Amino acid sequence: MGEYKDKEQSENEYWSLKENEKSWQENKYQKTAERFGLRKDVFSSDTEFKIKPLYTPLDSQNINYKKKLSFPGEFPFTRGVYPTMYRSRLWTMRQYSGYGTARETNNRFKYLLKQGQSGLSVAFDLPTQIGYDSDHQLAEGEVGKVGVAIDSVEDMKILFDDIPLAEVSTSMTINAPAAVVLAMYIVAAEEKGIAPEQLSGTIQNDILKEYVARGTYIYPPEPSLRLITDIFDYCSQKMPGFNTISISGYHIREAGSTAVQELAFTLADALTYVEAALKIGLDIDDFAPRLSFFFAAQMNLMEETAKFRAARRLWAEIMEEKFGAEKKKSKLLRFHTQTAGTALTASQPLNNIIRVTIQAMAAVFGGTQSLHTNSYDEALSLPSEEAVEIALRTQQIIAEESGIADVIDPLGGSYYLEELTDTFVEKSRKYLNKIDQLGGMIEAIKTGYIQREIQESAYQKQKEIDQKKKVVVGVNRYQTENHNSGIELHQLNPDLETDQIADLKKIKNSRDQKKLQKALKAVKSTAKTNENLMPAIIQAVRARATLGEINDQLREVFGEYQNRNI
Ligand code: 3HC
Repeated sequence: MGEYKDKEQSENEYWSLKENEKSWQENKYQKTAERFGLRKDVFSSDTEFKIKPLYTPLDSQNINYKKKLSFPGEFPFTRGVYPTMYRSRLWTMRQYSGYGTARETNNRFKYLLKQGQSGLSVAFDLPTQIGYDSDHQLAEGEVGKVGVAIDSVEDMKILFDDIPLAEVSTSMTINAPAAVVLAMYIVAAEEKGIAPEQLSGTIQNDILKEYVARGTYIYPPEPSLRLITDIFDYCSQKMPGFNTISISGYHIREAGSTAVQELAFTLADALTYVEAALKIGLDIDDFAPRLSFFFAAQMNLMEETAKFRAARRLWAEIMEEKFGAEKKKSKLLRFHTQTAGTALTASQPLNNIIRVTIQAMAAVFGGTQSLHTNSYDEALSLPSEEAVEIALRTQQIIAEESGIADVIDPLGGSYYLEELTDTFVEKSRKYLNKIDQLGGMIEAIKTGYIQREIQESAYQKQKEIDQKKKVVVGVNRYQTENHNSGIELHQLNPDLETDQIADLKKIKNSRDQKKLQKALKAVKSTAKTNENLMPAIIQAVRARATLGEINDQLREVFGEYQNRNI
């Protein structure tokens, strides 16, 4: 490549792209730049890609279309996981929601479904996420604050009241106590007459990113991995429509990583989970089809689009080359995207609608399967109903009016995008090799390598903002005085905590104590063996054991993870 013949060119006319690009660069671009100057000393993206002024076919000349791109639904799936993508079915519009009591969140769920959202996504409050009941002393002040308070299966039944669980897929953002919350979902459905095999959805169940980024861990890595693979094993037999994990890069990125680190560390986590499942004797093609992923969509539209395309290609290659997966579904990287919470500003909050639109477009250009769009007021509080509606309408306008859902991988073939996609693959592979040399992700976490990489990136990014090298409109440029007045913020019910605790007390007083104690003892004794814990946990949930009581049995056997200050 370098000699370039376009259709109109006559045979004897010689025109070299290479020579002409060089001449343009030196005689036109450089000279004009010297005369008019450039806006920035260096044009680079979040991931230190040094961006050229122009990309041409010369930049994607090493693109082997069959090997690196192929077709949607064909290995390595770079251009999409399904042959028809959004031409058959739009991505699932799945707004992460939850606050207060189960009843309040149930009302929000029904509102969102009425507004056209096509999947559910449960946000749990912090006590639930770290395995404490609402009446625990450590729960004080946090009950129902950042998500819904779930203490027992009775709360779960109220949470999904009047919602057709056999028809709507539900994502649950729960990690350390995932097995207990999944058991509550199973029993709540069962008591509504819905069998486990009729359920579809996803449980986040990704503990490794909790150690490095999000922080809602309970147990040390080894027992945590056991709980995760018990869910893999149970669901592969009983819940074929349920995604058993959502391997998350979102929180890694939100903690300040670069886009390449987000991708590489997420895939490194995924490798660890696959290896843990293989170690307990699961077959790759039995559990891999139900692995799913979760990424952030940040502001750099082309970089984020390239990240998602690179993710699919990398995962497909890893599953085939490293693990010998045979089923096509085992090689698909199906993912959910959430627009970046850290990109939202408290100043001039309406600007966030535009930011979320750009980020959502990156997710759609990138071929996401499910999408949450942040509300413009979320840098200030939990989203108001009005703000959530605008966030959902943003997805619907992109889907129905922009045209980008009507053609598959529409930016594919862009010289710049293909170069970016290739670079993502290359840079991520370098990180994966490094982590492999460190002895794998758990070792890399234990030594603090991952945390230091993220912290360094976060520090550099904040420095660029403080030095105004990275502009955040309304924050370090284009500021105004009354930057967020007049916004109607969501208000939490002030009696929420007392109400929740009172309800919990009623449930505790109404239980068959003999049945309860027997079930809790069984959880504890099973935890000491290698047996799958799901059946014992499900039995305890049926006996109305609370989330805290079940996790306390596990704490006694597994102990608790002590985080190292890095
Ligand atoms: N052709 C053929 N089939 C198609 C298709 C097409 N074009 N489009 C969709 N389908 C099929 C799929 O195969 C699937 O069928 P299957 O389940 O039998 O395979 C069905 O239609 C549904 O499609 P998807 O599976 O693609 O879409 P879902 O929405 O059901 O699943 C997912 C998407 C990414 C695989 C899933 O794991 C998911 O929904 N994840 C969501 C995770 C989530 O919401 N997380 C929130 C986290 S919030 C958080 O952590 C942040 C906080 O901490 C701040």
